[in-house]
Parts: sequence; C-alpha cells; structure tokens
Amino acid sequence: MVNKGIRMKEYPIYIDRPWQEFDTIVRSLESDKIFIITDSNTRLHCLPILVENVSIQFESISIPAGEDYKSLNTTTDIWSSLLDKGCTRQSLVINLGGGVIGDMGGFSAATYMRGVRFIQMPTSLLSMVDASIGGKLGIDFKGIKNILGSFNNPECVWINTTFLDTLPEEQYNSGFAEIIKHSLISESNLWNQINDDSSTIGIGELIERNIAIKQDIVKQDPKEAGIRKVLNYGHTIGHGLESYFLSNSRSLLHGYAVAYGMMLENELSVALGHLSNKDCNTINAFIAARYLESPLKLSKDAINEVVSIMRSDKKNTDDVIRCSLLESPGKCLYNIAVKEATIIEVMTASEIITA
Ligand SMILES: NC(=O)c1ccc[n+]([C@@H]2O[C@H](COP(=O)([O-])OP(=O)(O)OC[C@H]3O[C@@H](n4cnc5c(N)ncnc54)[C@H](O)[C@@H]3O)[C@@H](O)[C@H]2O)c1
Ligand SMILES: [Zn+2]
Repeated sequence: MVNKGIRMKEYPIYIDRPWQEFDTIVRSLESDKIFIITDSNTRLHCLPILVENVSIQFESISIPAGEDYKSLNTTTDIWSSLLDKGCTRQSLVINLGGGVIGDMGGFSAATYMRGVRFIQMPTSLLSMVDASIGGKLGIDFKGIKNILGSFNNPECVWINTTFLDTLPEEQYNSGFAEIIKHSLISESNLWNQINDDSSTIGIGELIERNIAIKQDIVKQDPKEAGIRKVLNYGHTIGHGLESYFLSNSRSLLHGYAVAYGMMLENELSVALGHLSNKDCNTINAFIAARYLESPLKLSKDAINEVVSIMRSDKKNTDDVIRCSLLESPGKCLYNIAVKEATIIEVMTASEIITA
C-alpha cells in the first residue's frame, strides 16, 4: 500500500453528516489499526457518542485536558503509546478533541514514522471553526505557544455539532472569538449579522461560513507567506497575553486572549491611522460586552514582558513586530511594522488594561 502520510493536499470537511458516512470513509482508508486520541473531557463526553454511532475497532490514547499539557512531555507519551500499541505507517489516528488534541495529536501523527494519516474530529467550537482547518499542527515549548510544529493536512475533518452540547460556556465563548475574527477580517456581511441581536443565524451555518472564510485564505497562501497573515489579527498581542499568562501560571483561554488582542490591536490601528475611531468603538464595545468583565490587570513590567514575548514570537522578523490590523470591518491589512514603543504606549493608555 502507498504511504499516504506527508503531503499538502485538499481534504474534505464534513459538517453534521450521518455517522454511517464516517464508517465508510474510515473503511476506505484501509488502515491496519486505528488510534483515537482524546483528553480526559472528550473521552468522557465525546468518545461515547462515537462508539455509539460508528462500528470501528480502535485503540484509545487519553491525555489530561488543558493547554498545560500541549507539551513535549505529552507528545512523548503519545509517541510512546503509538509505538507500544503497534502503530504503523498504514495506521490511522483520529484526534477527538479541541484545538489542543487536534494540534498535538496531529503533530504526533505527522512526526511518527515520518507521518501517519490522521483525521481531525474537533469537539470545541474553536477547533471546529479554526484549529482543525488549515493544516497547522504543533505544541508549546519553553512557555512559547506553538513554537514546535509542522504543516500537514488531515485525511478529512469531521464535524458533529452535537459535541458542542457538553462544551462549557466559557469554552464556547472562546471559540466565538475566532468567529468574530473571521467576520472582521473578510466578511463585513457576517460581522453585521453577528453584531445584530435579532439575527437568527444557526451554529451549523455559522461554522460553515467561518470554515469557508478560513479555507479561502489558507488556499491562497498555505504556508503563510503573505495574505494568510490576516488570520493573525488579534493574535499578535493575543499570543503575547496568552504566553504571559501561561508562564505566570494564570489561565487565559485562547479566545479570550484573542478577544483582548483584537481590542488592543484595534486601538493600535487607530493610533497608526488605519482604523476610524467610530469603527474601533463599535467593535470594541461589542467584544468588551462579551469578554471583558473588568479591565485586565497588567503592571508596566507585565506590559513590557508581553511585548518582549511578542518580539520573540516566531512570526516576527528583523526584530520588528509585524501586525495584522483592521482598516474597517471586512478589511484587514497585514505585515504592518509597528514599533515596540508604540505598542507599549497604546497598551499603557488603553482602558482595557489597568495597572
Ligand atoms: N492549528 C491552528 O491553526 C490553531 C488555530 C487556533 C487555535 N489553535 C490552538 O487550539 C488550542 C485551543 O483550542 P481549544 O479552545 O479547543 O482548547 P482545548 O482543546 O483545550 O479545549 C478546551 C476545553 O474544552 C474541553 N472540551 C473540548 N471539547 C469538549 C466537549 N465537546 N465537551 C466537553 N468538553 C470539551 C477540553 O477538554 C478542554 O478542557 C490552542 O492550543 C491553540 O493554540 C490552533
Ligand atoms: Zn486563534
């Protein structure tokens, strides 16, 4: 059999399709063994749904839940389990979980024996609209988010929105931040719908439209040489905040970090003359109402640390911090070189942050 491991290829995305189709897809892959990777929560809440609906034989590998475990240690545990349980190049890995499982399970599969095939089965809203799409895999290392990783596409992405029934509310909100991001960077219509309290758009349609936005951008630039950088909107400062909190043992969910990142980057965009005050106020009021109960407590030193983390972020070259900044809802600029001092100034003056 031909190894179907490493290559960047098109892959289908199935949303709320009948489970029998999943059986058929898995059978067509003719794998010798199937491994399902879960975390403690998705093993409890999602694996039973899979077991009830599909008729595949599998070995399961479960790891503790949470970003803290998106580490080299856990990856080593996954590699060990795959080896001990007899994973070969003809095996199949199914990543059943949120973005942590998708990124780390995918990375483990992509590196084991130079790549075994894997399927992404996202169970959090964030992983359905974002993490499982686009082929980026990875783990955190030395307190830096996603610093080790690879680009590898799955055989398919299988989304079943019933998984969302057991997702905690703050995790749902975390995923919704990426939906806000997608709408703001490329589709003002979608932003208007999200921003309209009377809109009746359902979660299935929202997921589908968000995936279309992300895929369209990724297709134009699979390796992030240019336009794909618009997906980093909210993430330059967001990642800085997330890593800062991670290394200080305080927890900040990814989507919340991105929400604050979008607000601060909007203020940066106003300061640099790209975004109007009016648009910034409308967007930031919408985000604040959902994500900001009280201002973020960050001392002057903490702000400096966040910016120094941003400087070491892999996306920055030549010691310049490059940001993706909104020009208006639906239009995002990228590769905007920003001085560190300007970011510190904007963060220090921001009402989102208190000392
Ligand atoms: N690869 C990419 O392009 C990409 C894009 C965005 C984010 N990410 C990564 O994704 C991660 C964040 O993803 P996440 O928010 O899904 O985190 P996560 O995987 O930690 O999931 C969040 C929490 O929800 C639980 N959970 C997941 N699905 C559940 C369900 N159906 N029922 C009950 N509990 C459930 C998990 O156990 C976990 O406790 C970050 O590590 C981030 O770097 C990657
Ligand atoms: Zn994100």
